Amino acid sequence: RAGAGACPVSAQAQAFDPFSAEYLANPAEALKWSRDQEPVFYNPELGYWVVSRYEDVKAVFRDNVTFSPSIALERVVPPSEEAMETLKRYKYQLNRTLVNEDEPAHMERRRVLMEHFLPGNLAAKEEMIRELTREKVDAFVDSGRVDLVEAMFWEIPLTVALHFLGVPKEDMGALKEFSVAHTVNTWGKPSPEQQVKVADAVGRFWQYAGQVLDKMRKQPDGTGWMHHAIRMNAEMPDVVTGSYLHSMMMAIIVAGHETTTLASTNALKLLLSNRVVWERICKDPELIPNAVEECLRLEGSVVAWRRRATCDTEIAGVAIPAEAKLLIVSASANHDYRHFENGDLLDIYRDNAAEHLTFGYGSHQCMGKNFARLEMRIFIEELSRRLPHMRLAEDQDFTYLPNLAFRGPEKLIVEWDPADNPERADP
Ligand code: HEM
Repeated sequence: RAGAGACPVSAQAQAFDPFSAEYLANPAEALKWSRDQEPVFYNPELGYWVVSRYEDVKAVFRDNVTFSPSIALERVVPPSEEAMETLKRYKYQLNRTLVNEDEPAHMERRRVLMEHFLPGNLAAKEEMIRELTREKVDAFVDSGRVDLVEAMFWEIPLTVALHFLGVPKEDMGALKEFSVAHTVNTWGKPSPEQQVKVADAVGRFWQYAGQVLDKMRKQPDGTGWMHHAIRMNAEMPDVVTGSYLHSMMMAIIVAGHETTTLASTNALKLLLSNRVVWERICKDPELIPNAVEECLRLEGSVVAWRRRATCDTEIAGVAIPAEAKLLIVSASANHDYRHFENGDLLDIYRDNAAEHLTFGYGSHQCMGKNFARLEMRIFIEELSRRLPHMRLAEDQDFTYLPNLAFRGPEKLIVEWDPADNPERADP
């Protein structure tokens, strides 16, 4: 720690760069020094206080009054003038949804929109997810090599999300482009040239969300979560506001699938890199639910989230001024040995694996967490049953979209010898 009058920012805090290749490759490892020496620090370049230990990250998530979620969807890098002009042309105005709404509005809204996430509705989706997964696996099981992201991990979560929302399954390719643009626009650090391109895609996404909403408004009996939200808007316009509907339509299309795509990719990569664990799972599928939790803990698809201090406060004895912006790094918290014994180790028998913070914590905790868990479980069940002999291809580099929140390889190529497929021996 610096002495009185000296610069209060340590050299390591100053050097912290969440867009560096080292951090993107392994955020938990890149923040090990912080967990051990300076668990709450300020980085002037980013303008954020970074929180890295389990107990502190959880405490910030838990107190959504002192630590408001209002900046959760704010752009990390302010847009250039040209990008702003582009967004204005599309009348882009992303506002409060659920994830960035303060109390008491948040809880009132969450309560009236909760029903569709309850276990009964989830069970009804299981068959559909299983069917979609089987179809996709059928298409490549005899090929011997496939990119799992392209072949199933992006399309199934997107299909399931659109079905859940009641949004027509059209323009899937455009939605993929829009989701990447939304991620880069919100959590990335686009170059000045990229900014305009990204802003244009985000603007088109905003327009698309508005058009879909207009179409859905014309079907008063439509099924799905967004139809429910539209009806709630008519019944309780102060709770489920009109502005909410448009913003949520855009945010949920991304939140409802991209996170699950990346989590599934991370999980398969992790399991196939630990052959003994993979083989155990192939022999005993009952291990899969806890393996899913352990994958979400060790390699979650959301690595950090944001909060804003609403008053002068402190975290772990460090004074935090009002209006401070916080980057709470759940990926680091999830590796913290103070909470998870041998935190860097994959242990599918771990009894507290589900205590990870990948879905956040407290009153904003992810409403779709059980959907994501269900999809991941089914993917692993089907792949481990039909392709237990698959391996990660050696001739691949794993690339990650540079951004502060979402993490997962853009491709995951696996290989196997189709002659050894179990279903050939036992058709
Ligand atoms: C909120 C992660 C999948 C819907 C959140 C938050 C995180 C998160 C970190 C913020 C939590 C907080 O502030 O405490 C994830 C991850 C997923 C996933 C890692 C997949 C592995 C989904 C899916 C859906 C969904 C599939 C919808 C079908 C939501 C909603 C919220 C939310 C509606 C806002 C809740 C609120 O603020 O009250 N999610 N999510 N998520 N998520 Fe997810």
